[in-house]
Amino acid sequence: HATLPDSLSAKFKGSFAYKTVKDRIPSILVKVIDVLARNYGKFKEDYGEEGVEDAKGVVGRLSGLRNEMQTDKPVLPLTDGRADVKLWNRYLEEVSAVQGSPPSWFTSAWLYVECYMYRRIQQAFEDSTILRTFDPFRAQKEAGLLNSESPIQSLASYVQQATQDPSTLSQQDIHTLFNQLIQVNLWGNKCDLSISGGTENYQKHDPIQQLSSLRPFIIVDQTDQIWNRINQPGASKRVDLIVDNAGFELFSDLVFAEMLLATKLADVVHFHLKAMPWFVSDALRGDFMWTLDVLRASGHAAVSHYGNLWHERVKDGTWVLCEHDFWTCPHDYSKMEAVAPDLYADLARSHLIVFKGDLNYRKITGDLKWAHTVPFSEALRGFLPSALCTLRTLKADLIVGLEEGQAERIEREAEEASDWMVSGNWAVVQYCEQL
Ligand code: F6P
Ligand code: MG
Repeated sequence: HATLPDSLSAKFKGSFAYKTVKDRIPSILVKVIDVLARNYGKFKEDYGEEGVEDAKGVVGRLSGLRNEMQTDKPVLPLTDGRADVKLWNRYLEEVSAVQGSPPSWFTSAWLYVECYMYRRIQQAFEDSTILRTFDPFRAQKEAGLLNSESPIQSLASYVQQATQDPSTLSQQDIHTLFNQLIQVNLWGNKCDLSISGGTENYQKHDPIQQLSSLRPFIIVDQTDQIWNRINQPGASKRVDLIVDNAGFELFSDLVFAEMLLATKLADVVHFHLKAMPWFVSDALRGDFMWTLDVLRASGHAAVSHYGNLWHERVKDGTWVLCEHDFWTCPHDYSKMEAVAPDLYADLARSHLIVFKGDLNYRKITGDLKWAHTVPFSEALRGFLPSALCTLRTLKADLIVGLEEGQAERIEREAEEASDWMVSGNWAVVQYCEQL
C-alpha cells in the first residue's frame, strides 16, 4: 500500500476529530473527575480517610492529563503495571520514529490519541491503592440498561414467542427473524455514551416496531451476504461478536446471539469484551455478568427467562466470554496479526466475526481519510481472519463502500445535512469474505 490516505487527525481544523480532541474528550475527562469528587463522601464511608486521599490522588493525575491535552503536550510513555504497557510504549516509539517527533494531541492520529486518553485514565486508577479497579463509567452504563426496561421487555417477549418451538420454524421464518434481529442489533449501536458525551442516550421505542421507519437510513446493506454465510450447510458453527456498548446495545447482542443458537444457525458464540473501562460505555466482563443478573431478577417473565437461560449458556460454554488487551490498544486491525497473533489465530477459527459499532469500524478501516467509494474490502488492508461483517451507526466522518454520488445525495437529503456522518442516525451493514 504505497499511497494510503492520511489518518483522521485533529490537525485538520474543523474536522470531527478536531472537535473531539478539542471539546468532546476533554469533557468526558472532566466528568470522570466529577464522579470522583462527588464520591469523596462515599469513599470515606467505605475506606476511611485513606479512600479520600486515594481518590484525590486520582483526581490530581487526571487534572494533569487534562492540562497535557489542552496544551497539546507530547504523548508520554505509560508507567503503570498493566501487562499492555510494553505494547503501548513500543507503538509510541514507532510513531515517534516515523513522525520524527513524539506524537501529540492536536497533531497525531485521532485514533491513537483518543485511545490513549482512556488508557491514561486507567493509569490514573492503576497508580492508586484502593481504587485500582474502580470503573468511573459504571453508573452510567448501569443507568443505560435500567432506563431501557420497556424496549428490553418488548424485545424479550417478541423473541421468546418467535422461537418458542424452533422445530416448527420454516427456513423463511428463520430468515425473517434473522433479518429483523440483525437490524435491531445494528440500531442498538445508536445508544452509546461516548458520542453523547455521557448524557442520556437510551433506547426508548419498541425496537421491532421501529425497524421499518429506520430502514431507509441503512445506506449499505449486505445482510443477504451475511445470511448466505451463516446459513451455509455443514459449516463450522462458531460466531464471534466483537461487542461494543453495554446497556441496550449489549442486550440486543445477546438477543441476536440467542436467536442464532435457538435456530441452530450457530452452536457457540464467543463474546469479545474490553479488559478495562473504554470509550465510556463499552462492555466489560463485569458489565456483562451484571446485565445477566439484572435480567434474571426482572419481574417480567420473558426477561427473567432469558436472564436464567443466559447464565446457563455462560456455564455450559455455548456462550464464551473473552478478553484481550489488543481491543484496548491503539492499533488498527490490519496490525492484529503482527501484534496479537494469538487473537488473530483465535478469530481465524470463527465462521463469522461480527464487529459492532463505530470504534470497531474506525479500527477496521484504519481511521484513514478514505474516499467514500473505496471498496470495504480494500479498506481492510489485508485484515480478514475469517468472514467478517460490521454493524455500525455512523459517528465519525469516515465511510467506505458507497456508490459514486451516494454521499453527496445523502448530504443533500439529510436533515442534519452537515453532520450526517457523525449523528448516529445513519448506518451500514458491510460484509467481506474475500480480499
Ligand atoms: O469520540 C468519538 C468516537 O470514537 C466515535 O467514533 C464514536 O462516536 C464513539 O466514540 C464510539 O462509538 P461506538 O460505541 O459506536 O464505538
Ligand atoms: Mg463504544
